[in-house]
Amino acid sequence: MKLMPLVLAGAVLVVGASAAQAQAAGDPAKGKTVYARCAACHDLNTGATRLGPSMKGVIGRKSGSVPGYAYSPAMKAKAVTWNAQTLDAYLAAPAKYIPGNKMPFAGLPNPQDRADVIAYLAQAAK
Ligand code: HEC
Repeated sequence: MKLMPLVLAGAVLVVGASAAQAQAAGDPAKGKTVYARCAACHDLNTGATRLGPSMKGVIGRKSGSVPGYAYSPAMKAKAVTWNAQTLDAYLAAPAKYIPGNKMPFAGLPNPQDRADVIAYLAQAAK
């Protein structure tokens, strides 16, 4: 019986570690497929505006900062730098992370989809 707390602590550690790995291990090839859901609204790397702003150079870019794009005030006011963490939070639940933003997209509930599409953006959206 004395072993029980140790076993439980071990299980928590394992779950914690696999969640961290899921975030780290995005697969850009799979992310390309996920990006097909974004491509109608987001140019990847030419700088063109569609319904949404281009993703060109999005990693390391400030939210709401593409010149000439008519962002919502909420997106401009958020003023975060897009990186793996902020993109993960936004893409999980766009309307929760930035209330009032105008992206008409419900989000990617699957963390692996988010990690994959972020890995793809890091590689291809230059
Ligand atoms: C139906 C159109 C649509 C789809 C689909 C869509 N977006 Fe968007 N997205 C927008 C619009 C419009 C905005 C501008 C939001 C604002 O100004 O509030 C935006 C904003 C963004 C931003 C912030 C850009 C910046 O310059 O700050 C990111 C990042 C983003 N989208 C990523 C994605 C990704 C990744 C996907 C696919 C998983 C996706 N979007 C799917 C329309 C869309």
